[in-house]
Amino acid sequence: MAHISDVATLANGVKMPWIGLGVYKSKEGTEVINAVTSALRSGYRHIDTAAAYGNEEGVGQAIRESGISRDSIFVTTKVWNSRQGFDSTLAAFDESMEKLALDAVDLYLVHWPVKGKYKETWKALERIYKEGRAKAIGVSNFQVHHLKDLMESAEVLPIVNQVELHPLLAQVELRSFCKDKGIQIEAWSPLMQGNQLDHPVLQEIAGKYGKSAAQVIIRWDLQHGIVTIPKPVNTGRIQENADVFDFELTAEDMERIDGMNQNRRFGSDPDNFNF
Ligand SMILES: NC(=O)c1ccc[n+]([C@@H]2O[C@H](COP(=O)([O-])OP(=O)(O)OC[C@H]3O[C@@H](n4cnc5c(N)ncnc54)[C@H](OP(=O)(O)O)[C@@H]3O)[C@@H](O)[C@H]2O)c1
Repeated sequence: MAHISDVATLANGVKMPWIGLGVYKSKEGTEVINAVTSALRSGYRHIDTAAAYGNEEGVGQAIRESGISRDSIFVTTKVWNSRQGFDSTLAAFDESMEKLALDAVDLYLVHWPVKGKYKETWKALERIYKEGRAKAIGVSNFQVHHLKDLMESAEVLPIVNQVELHPLLAQVELRSFCKDKGIQIEAWSPLMQGNQLDHPVLQEIAGKYGKSAAQVIIRWDLQHGIVTIPKPVNTGRIQENADVFDFELTAEDMERIDGMNQNRRFGSDPDNFNF
């Protein structure tokens, strides 16, 4: 890995850049357009949105206006919980495509494992995948037991699992399970939503390499083979988070960050959510 556009090769051969721009809470219109434009100018080639973020139109507009060929940008979107089920997922996908104004997405995800629904939703994703309208399909917020349950009836196995993952929530068991099954792990809230960046272990390691705590975490993701989608809004941070290819954490520093794990979530628990 030497560049922001470097890619992970997914189980089906599709290439997914290791670092993407997350746009959760980036407001539709100028804010999201500016964030995506700035990221693409800084070399990012991967944008993570969702129907629930309400900013797919701006994401699509910024991609089209960038002048960069569509093939070189990896775009993820997700079906929201209230739209899960077979027919409603197909309809939700069409709506996302209309908003993005793209012919296909690179990755379509089941946003959360809604009980009693996600297997039907998955069948819709399989259909979309077979039709070539999503180059890869996957899930988000799936624990090992959700994956096992889904895999019992799946024709196409999930290719990606996007979960909350950062130094305080290292997801060791889930990472190991996904690795065995060829499922690429992707980290959401990799920067702990901006919390704990002053953690003494991160600060000390950051000081040693002349980098920021955010850059150290992103590097920890990369060295563990985790795709990561930090969300900065301003251009300075967008560039900062991409500037992680000129240093390498030692095995000892990787272990110190691994040792920060407390299984602590900042977001919702996939086994206990009510939305
Ligand atoms: N699948 C899911 O259920 C799910 C759930 C949550 C998030 N996600 C995805 O994951 C992406 C990232 O997660 P997130 O937005 O929750 O959290 P995050 O990336 O961990 O943290 C975002 C926060 O970190 C700050 N930040 C970013 N870069 C920084 C830097 N270099 N130095 C200091 N602070 C920095 C941002 O501030 P500024 O904005 O002020 O720059 C923002 O307050 C989302 O945008 C979304 O695409 C997915």
